Amino acid sequence: MSVYHEPLTALSESTRSASLAERASRLADTVEKWFGVAFCVYDGDSGALAYAPPGMPRGSVELRGELCKQVAARRKAEAIEEDDGLLTLAIPSIEPDGSSLVAVATFVTAGASNEEKAPSAASILDMDEDSARIWLAKQPFWPADALMRTAQLATEKLTSDQRTNRLRGEVAALSHNISTTYEEISLLYRLTQNLSLAIDDEKLSRIALDWLNVTLPIEGIAALLLPPPNLSSTNREARREPLLLSEGDWSLSLGDVNDLLSAVGASGARRPVVINQLVTTSESWRFPAVRQLIVVSLCEGSRCFGYLIAVNHNAGKELGTIEANLMASVASILGIHCGNSDLYRRRAELLTGIVRALTSAIDAKDPYTCGHSDRVARVAERIAKHLGLDQRTLHTIYLSGLVHDIGKIGINDEVLRKPGPLTPDEFEHIKTHPALGYKILVDLNELDEVLPVVLHHHENWDGKGYPDGLAGEESPLLARIVAVADAFDAMGSDRPYREGMPDGKVDAILRAGAGAQWDPHVIEAFFAVREDIREIARRERDTLDLDMRQWL
Ligand SMILES: [Fe+2]
Ligand SMILES: [Fe+2]
Repeated sequence: MSVYHEPLTALSESTRSASLAERASRLADTVEKWFGVAFCVYDGDSGALAYAPPGMPRGSVELRGELCKQVAARRKAEAIEEDDGLLTLAIPSIEPDGSSLVAVATFVTAGASNEEKAPSAASILDMDEDSARIWLAKQPFWPADALMRTAQLATEKLTSDQRTNRLRGEVAALSHNISTTYEEISLLYRLTQNLSLAIDDEKLSRIALDWLNVTLPIEGIAALLLPPPNLSSTNREARREPLLLSEGDWSLSLGDVNDLLSAVGASGARRPVVINQLVTTSESWRFPAVRQLIVVSLCEGSRCFGYLIAVNHNAGKELGTIEANLMASVASILGIHCGNSDLYRRRAELLTGIVRALTSAIDAKDPYTCGHSDRVARVAERIAKHLGLDQRTLHTIYLSGLVHDIGKIGINDEVLRKPGPLTPDEFEHIKTHPALGYKILVDLNELDEVLPVVLHHHENWDGKGYPDGLAGEESPLLARIVAVADAFDAMGSDRPYREGMPDGKVDAILRAGAGAQWDPHVIEAFFAVREDIREIARRERDTLDLDMRQWL
């Protein structure tokens, strides 16, 4: 993964902030290479001397400064002094920010002897004649027309170099923008790839933190994940305490983070909060470990699920809009995911509540069979597990066991609680409970997979059961498993008119009924896990073990 680059604004500012003396010195070096003599450099805007090589004769700085301002305005190389075979040349250079510099040097351009030129040179260069002779002796000879032509070319070269530099800067800025945009799209894409509800907000936050820590120019970053708003007390899955995840150099505790959010007014803020050194260097700042800070909230609609908090530029600069925008994009995806997960959890909670209510309603209707639904559910699940059914099917059969007798809600109390044998009519009435159960649940889409089990849990392997007289594998496998679990629990439990049968008798009846009333394969599985089932039957439970997310 590539790393974050300096923003364009910072590049331009660094160019502009190079001192006038540095830029003047660079220009002097450049033209010295072309002409073979040292140059002074003037500020073309103010006329001030910006750079002079040590020991170089300067002439009249004031006069030259004034002339340089005119050369800078006309933007072309000119001779600003000419006398006795000496020519003072001024070459303008227009900087990217529009300011100008002018390089100035005096040349020997005509063939008279140095002795003859010495007085003029002394006057032009503002020195005594002896020094002028020494200076003249070191100068190369430049014919005036060749000098002016070269100066013209030099100006054009400086102009074209400046244009090249400007274009280079634009290309760098463009690549930076493309690179930043690519990285942003790439992260958002990766996050959206992980938006499945199977991935929890903690895992998605870790992916985002890992990426942001590498990509942003920061020392550390954290996510504070809060318990979902309006969390019901019965929910056992959702986060109940705030969770602080961090990447990079992070030293703040959960308490520090809460104080920090309050101090900068970020609690519940909808927009990114950016704090820089103007604030963090003030005396009232209480967090010495934080020099720069960005906080964005993880929101969905009006609900806040937490915060992303980045601290300290890794090169001691300020954090700004670019970093805040990137964090805000990531935060909005995390916020939406938290919101969706919360909605999903609420639906699961609602469905769990419905199933608990239905199970309680059956138990309340027939107190003698209290706990029957839960035991049938667990025994059926144990048999199904032995048969190698997958996890989702195990959940389905557990839920089916819980609600298999829901139709008994519609059976008359006198019949249901009758402490003796039933009349044929009463038995016919009881036999309507699978179809009644089906009717009760049919509009709950989430329980679609449970319906066939509710409807067929009283079918027999030999086709003599009800309601449809299905034989063998015509009845669904899950219904055949629940049928065995149901019979096992019914025979073993106490009833108003009889005590529960001892295990030995129950086992004998089940063995005898294999291939007649019950699926022999299921009976075989039942006995394979008989010890586990004995334990399940012994253990009463206060709460049902429900995870309704399997059905959403
Ligand atoms: Fe039943
Ligand atoms: Fe039952």
